[in-house]
Amino acid sequence: MERLPFLQMCRWKCGWACRTETANPSQAPTLEQVLQEAFTRREFLRGILGAAIVLGVPEWFRRAAEASGGTGVPFIPVGLSRDDRVAVPSGYLTRVVVRWGDPLFRDAPPFNPERLQPEAQATQFGYNCDFVSFLPLGRRGGDRGLLWVNHEYTNPELMFPGYPAGRPTREMVDVEIAAHGGSVVEVRAGSDGNWVYVRESRFNRRVTGETLCLMTGPAAGHEWTRTQEDPSGVRVRGTLNNCAGGVTPWGTVLTCEENFHQYFGNAGQLPADDPRRRVHARYGIPGGASERRWELHHPRFDVGREPNEPFRFGWVVEVDPYDPTFVPRKRTALGRFKHEGATVVVTRERRVVVYSGDDERFEYIYKFVSSKTFRPGDRAHNLTLLDEGTLYVARFYPDGTGEWLPLTFGNGPLTPANGFRSQADVLLNTRGAADLLGATRMDRPEDIEAHPVTGTVYAVCTNNDRRTLAQVDPANPRAVNRHGHILEIFEAGGDHAATRFRWQIFLLCGNPADPDTYFAGYPKERVSPISCPDNIVFDRVGNLWIATDGQPAALGYNDGLYVVPVSGSHRGRVWQFLSGPLGCEICGPEFTPDFRTLFVAVQHPGEGGTWERPLSRWPDGAVPPRPSVVAVRHREGREVGS
Ligand code: FEO
Ligand code: CA
Ligand code: CA
Ligand code: CA
Repeated sequence: MERLPFLQMCRWKCGWACRTETANPSQAPTLEQVLQEAFTRREFLRGILGAAIVLGVPEWFRRAAEASGGTGVPFIPVGLSRDDRVAVPSGYLTRVVVRWGDPLFRDAPPFNPERLQPEAQATQFGYNCDFVSFLPLGRRGGDRGLLWVNHEYTNPELMFPGYPAGRPTREMVDVEIAAHGGSVVEVRAGSDGNWVYVRESRFNRRVTGETLCLMTGPAAGHEWTRTQEDPSGVRVRGTLNNCAGGVTPWGTVLTCEENFHQYFGNAGQLPADDPRRRVHARYGIPGGASERRWELHHPRFDVGREPNEPFRFGWVVEVDPYDPTFVPRKRTALGRFKHEGATVVVTRERRVVVYSGDDERFEYIYKFVSSKTFRPGDRAHNLTLLDEGTLYVARFYPDGTGEWLPLTFGNGPLTPANGFRSQADVLLNTRGAADLLGATRMDRPEDIEAHPVTGTVYAVCTNNDRRTLAQVDPANPRAVNRHGHILEIFEAGGDHAATRFRWQIFLLCGNPADPDTYFAGYPKERVSPISCPDNIVFDRVGNLWIATDGQPAALGYNDGLYVVPVSGSHRGRVWQFLSGPLGCEICGPEFTPDFRTLFVAVQHPGEGGTWERPLSRWPDGAVPPRPSVVAVRHREGREVGS
């Protein structure tokens, strides 16, 4: 089979962020610095991995997990595949629940791929479903709920016949804007266990690139967030490139703006001495025309005409899926960068901690710690928690320790001498502030999750083919890291608000035959090949599920979903549970509260092809392929993976 034409993927997925360098002036620790610690790379790895005995999960949990059989994972792994279908282990069933274009309201028109229209798209399920969260409705919560689904980006070459690259029509652009954002859609399982979406649910909602959002927190209303259209600097049109996200304990969803730079063009038209120009460059905003050319039809995407619009994107956005009238809030206290996700943990003192990776090569891992505490049942109070607190960025030391550095105005170099006059300035240029603090440059930080029992934090780095040997450091230990890795972070005292931590490598992904791979010490001949880990979730027994994004390029096979025990005698045994159709990545993943259904989002099936030369015809055997959410369950109703 031919290798896929991957160039097209980067164009829309990340707006070439994977191929260009943003102006990140900070320096990774060099290999020489690592060597000064008297470790060679291999010896160092052995050193920290040996320390796993000390740093690992508590023995009581290990025993409990063993006793429950929870790390057994009794299914026969599916193999790597180049088939145009969703493959799962024997005994499991899949069902497509909702597809791009499915009408979400009574008066929404049916999907007509020959004639897409913006007004119709704004009432239909959006494109490129990414993050999925299941919010239960009713008592049992296992057979009825709301899905919040992110619609990260559009593939116009798959959406429109004869897409004229560089010259999209106004209508095409408006369809694309309407296909971005997110959806709330009610889903129910019938008595046969089959999930369907409820077209006429009063909860159904589309949030698009045009939906009114409010900026809140320290940067709201800053002079750099004011535009000709919005002199207040708080009322933003829409949310864009919503990649992954998180759920709060007060029942809202966090949806994260990731590669927002790609929607803007012409930043090079700003005067050379305009300080905004340097910040836009640090975030990768194109100096000339954008690939998408939305600026041809909407001046707000033309930085030469509207220099501040990009400052209104790159945030974590809070939405209440239970309230269709809720105005989404861009929570500026959590920082502005290419947020992959936003994972919420509540500390023993009931502070709210949000972990978030900045998904670009050599970018950073962050966490936010709220000033105020979570009050169960006090919704109005809880909706203020993400507006006030401390944002930190991670520095990993070679000795297996680490530090959270506060991105607080006045701390160290974060002063007017370096262009920071307020906390709002720090947040608007979070990347620049983190550079000055000397944060550790990572291999594309993606999803982050805390283990539900041990609290150990799992941070995914998807890949970084640009890291040179001189840039290798112990937390990013491979040059030309094509396959990615996963770190374990142990917060000091088990407190997610701590400013110190210890860390170790959990997985170095790839083909297990490759000597550069590592699976927590598990015998490599018994693990599945895995590459480009992206989104993760824990199941009831504490096994980690890993969805991948990039295996076609890295391994030559379709992306998939894997499960790996993180404790017990099978710790590190990566087994493939699902393989997606051609050209897709697998997103979600999300369990129902009873763990009997697993939802996955099949994003960009057929990417690499075009309308005229389709690579995939999933899910309906037709053109165009349709990004869709799929439910997976066991034929006998068992917990998935149990
Ligand atoms: Fe949108 Fe980092 O994946
Ligand atoms: Ca992702
Ligand atoms: Ca996750
Ligand atoms: Ca992805």
